[in-house]
Amino acid sequence: MRLHKQRLEGKLMNQAQTVTYAVEDGVALIAVNNPPVNALAAGVREGIMECVMRANADAEVDAIVLLGEGKNFIAGADIRRLGSVRPVSTRKSAATLEASDKPVVAAMHGYALGGGLEHALACHYRIASPDARLGLPEVKLGIIPAGGGTQRLTRIAGPAASLDVILSGRHVGAEEAQRLGIVDAIVDGTDLRTAAIRFARGVASRRPLPRARDSAQGIELTEAEATALDAARKSITKKSRHLKAPAYALECVEAALTRPFDEGVALEEARFAELESSEESKALRYAFFAEREAAKIPGAESTGKAPRIRSAAVIGAGTMGSGIAMSYADAGIPVKVLEVTREALDRGMLRIRDTYAVRVKRGSLSQGEMDARLALIEGVQSYEAIADCDAVVEAVFERIDIKQEIFGRLDAVMKPGALLLTNSSAIDIDIMANATSRPQDVAGAHFFAPANVMKLCEVVRGSKTAPETVANAMKMARDMGKVCAVAGSCDGFAANRSRVPMMTEMMLMLEEGATPEQIDKVMVDFGYPMGPFAVNDISGLDVSYEGRKRRAAANPEYRKLHVPDRLVEMGRKGQKTGAGWYAYHDGDRTPHPDDVVKQVIAQVAAEFGIPQRTFTDEEILHRLLFASVNEACKILEEGKAYRVSDIDVMWLYGFGFPRHRGGLMYWADTVGAQAVWQQVTEWHERYGKRWQPGRLLGEIAAAGGALREAKGASL
Ligand code: COA
Repeated sequence: MRLHKQRLEGKLMNQAQTVTYAVEDGVALIAVNNPPVNALAAGVREGIMECVMRANADAEVDAIVLLGEGKNFIAGADIRRLGSVRPVSTRKSAATLEASDKPVVAAMHGYALGGGLEHALACHYRIASPDARLGLPEVKLGIIPAGGGTQRLTRIAGPAASLDVILSGRHVGAEEAQRLGIVDAIVDGTDLRTAAIRFARGVASRRPLPRARDSAQGIELTEAEATALDAARKSITKKSRHLKAPAYALECVEAALTRPFDEGVALEEARFAELESSEESKALRYAFFAEREAAKIPGAESTGKAPRIRSAAVIGAGTMGSGIAMSYADAGIPVKVLEVTREALDRGMLRIRDTYAVRVKRGSLSQGEMDARLALIEGVQSYEAIADCDAVVEAVFERIDIKQEIFGRLDAVMKPGALLLTNSSAIDIDIMANATSRPQDVAGAHFFAPANVMKLCEVVRGSKTAPETVANAMKMARDMGKVCAVAGSCDGFAANRSRVPMMTEMMLMLEEGATPEQIDKVMVDFGYPMGPFAVNDISGLDVSYEGRKRRAAANPEYRKLHVPDRLVEMGRKGQKTGAGWYAYHDGDRTPHPDDVVKQVIAQVAAEFGIPQRTFTDEEILHRLLFASVNEACKILEEGKAYRVSDIDVMWLYGFGFPRHRGGLMYWADTVGAQAVWQQVTEWHERYGKRWQPGRLLGEIAAAGGALREAKGASL
C-alpha cells in the first residue's frame, strides 16, 4: 500500500484548529478551517496527511472528501511564510492524498488557488460548486507551483490549458474548469458537503483509482497545442524578459510532456527553491501585501464592512467621465451619466459605445456582454434624475468655479448619506466640500486615464471628510475592481505629486545632453513596458502644458521646461498630431527618433548656456527616481499618505512601475536610503532648491534605516 510506505514527518501542529476529521455515512470528511482564506499555514498540510492516514486505517470509512470551511476551499500557501522553512511541503501532502488506497474527492467552493488547487489535483476526483474559482497564481508572486501542480495539471488538462492557467495566474470559473477536465462535476442546488458525500459514496468501490501521476508521459501534442506552446515561448521572451518564473513554468510544463512524473516534480521543486529566495519574488510578495494594506484606513471601520453601492452617477461625459461610467458598468453597477447639453451627452455615450465596440472587435468582450454593460449606463440631463444614487463622481474639467457650482447643486438634490466624490486631480477637496452643507460626505476619487483600464483609484481625504466616507469610497472603488490608496489633500495629491519631480528631471536632462531615446531605453531596461517619453506621446504633451504655464505665472522661481513647451507650441502634441517626442509615420504607432526634437533641445541648451555632457544609464535612472523618492518622503512627513507602501501601490497601479521591483520606495530601499540621501544632497548643491532633501529621508538615512519601516502618518 503506497500510503504506508510514507512516513509522516514533522509534528502535527494546530490540527485541532485548522484541520478537522469527521465520518458521515462511511465517508471521512477532512475539512480545512484556517480563516480568512484557508491558506496552508503551519500545521495544515500535516493535518491533512494525518487525516488521510487515519481514514485509510478506519474500517468504517470507504471514501474520503477534502473540503474547506468558510468561504473558500484553500487559497494556497501562506504567502507570509514563503522563504521560511516548511516542515512538510505541498508536494508531500499532495502525494499523500494521491497515494490513498481509498478514493479521495476534492470538493471545492470559493477560491481553490495555488497549493489549494494542487491538493485538489492530487485527489482522485474533483467536484465544485458553481462559485468556485480555481487557479495557480504563483507566477504573480515570482514563483511556480511546487506541489506537483505543473505536472498534474498538464496531465489532466493538456499543455496548452495548463500553460495558460499557470502563466496568466488567472481564476478559472467552475464551468470552464469542467470543460478543461479539471473538475468532474459541478454541484448546483445542493449543499456541497452533502453532494460531496453522495459523490464519494458513488465512487467508493471504483478501482483503479485515477491518479494524475500515473497518466503516461510523452503526451502527443495536437497542432493547436504545439502552436500554443510556441506562442507562450515567444511571449515569455518578449514580455517577461525581466522575470524568471514564467520561463521556469514553461520548462516544467514541457518536462511534464516528456519526462516521468517524479523527474518533473524534482525539476519543479529545484526551480521553486531558486525562485523562492529571489529578489523578484520578494518584491512581488511585498506588492501583494502592500495592496491589501493600502485598503486599510487607520481609525476607520474596515472597508470590508462598508455597504456595496447599488447605483451611481457620473457628472460629465468627457474622457474621464465616460471611463468612470464604464468602470461602474463593468462591475455590474447601474450608472447615470449627466451632461446638461444633449450634444455633450450624445458625444459621451458614443465614446462609451465605441470603446466597447473596439473590445468586441478585438475579442476581449462578447457582443452580449457589451449590450449588457450599455444597458447599465443611462444618459441623463438633469440633477433631479440622479438624486437617488448612492454615489456620484464629478468628472468635469478642472475649474474651481464650475466644481463649486456642481457641488452646490449636488448638495441640493442628492439623498442624505450619498457619497459625493470628485475626480479632480489637483483641486483642494475642501473647496468642493465647503460648497455643500455636508462636507463630511465629500472626498476625492481620483481615477487615472483611461479610467476603465487603469486600476488605481486614489481616494483623497479633505480636512472635513468623515472616516466612513473614506471607507465607503474605498469599498466602492474595490467593488469597481480598482486598487485603492488614500491621500491627503495637497497639490497633485500623493500619486501625481510624487511623480512630477521625475517628469521634471526627464525634461531637464534633455537640456544637459540626454536624448528621449536614451532615457526611454533606460526605463524599459528597468522594467517599464514603455519609456516615459513614448508614454507622454500617447497621453499628449499638451495635457500638462497649461498647468505649467499657470505654475510659472504664480511662482517666479518655477523652473520652466522649455523643451516640451516649445514642442507643444510647434503643434507637436504626441501621437494624436503625428509627432511629439518622436515622429510617427502615417498613423503608425511606432516611435521614430526625430531630428527636429534634437534641434529644439540643442537650441534651448545654447540659448541658456547649459553645458553638454553624457549620462550613464545609472545616472538617468537615479536622477529620475530619486527625485520622486525625495518628494514621496516629503508627502509622508507632511502626513499626506498613511504609509510608505501606499506610495508603492500608487506607482504600481497608477504609473505602471515594474511590479517585480516592488514599487518606488521598495526599490529605493534596495539602493539604500543612505545612498539615496547622499545623492539627493549632492544634486541639491548642484541644481538648487528643487533637490532639497526631505527631512524624513535625512532621518532614515542618518539612522541607517529603511524607508519602508518609516511610521505611517494619520491624515
Ligand atoms: N497567504 C497569506 N495570507 C493570505 C493569502 C495567502 N495565500 N491569501 C489571502 N491572504 C490574506 C490577505 O493578506 C488578507 O489579509 P488581511 O485581511 O490581513 O489584509 C486576507 O487574507 C483576505 O485577503 P484579500 O485578498 O483581502 O481577500 P479577497 O477576498 O479580496 O481575495 C484571494 C481572496 C484568495 C483571491 C486573494 O487573497 C489572493 O489572491 N490570495 C493569494 C492567493 C495565492 O496567490 N495563492 C498562492 C500562494 S503561493
